[in-house]
Amino acid sequence: MDSRAGLVVLLCLIGFTCAEVKFIDCGSATGKVATVDVKPCPTQPCQLHRGQDYSVNVTFMSNVESKTSTAVVHGIIAGAPIPFAIPNPDGCKSGIQCPMKKQMYNYVATLAVKSEYPAIKLVVKWELRDDTNSDLFCVEFPIQIV
Ligand SMILES: *[C@@H]1O[C@H](CO)[C@@H](O)[C@H](O)[C@H]1NC(C)=O
Repeated sequence: MDSRAGLVVLLCLIGFTCAEVKFIDCGSATGKVATVDVKPCPTQPCQLHRGQDYSVNVTFMSNVESKTSTAVVHGIIAGAPIPFAIPNPDGCKSGIQCPMKKQMYNYVATLAVKSEYPAIKLVVKWELRDDTNSDLFCVEFPIQIV
């Protein structure tokens, strides 16, 4: 565990609202992820209430220039990735100024948890693709719908 992760754990232990989620990098190719924040998410895995909107904020470094960025989201249920519609898949309208340069960005999107979703645990796989369809980032984090 690096010192930054240690600090986050410490802050969580002493009762801060802990929004920084543990994630797995599932193959970021043309970028590198620093942090993934889900708000509000006081416990881990994040418990997302049906009928509420959540914000997902991925802080990452782009190692390429790209005119576009497109988000692709899946929910992995029992090992099978199910496409997940998000309100705006255009990364350039989600906190990223395009054309993208080689620099840090905050990708900020809304995750709407619809009331008809089943109350299950699943893994969210969130990718952001560049002009060449390579993943600027690919992160996976567990959630629980309640
Ligand atoms: C996203 O996260 C970064 C790093 O934690 C933070 O600096 C930035 O203000 C956040 N943006 C939003 C809109 O929450």
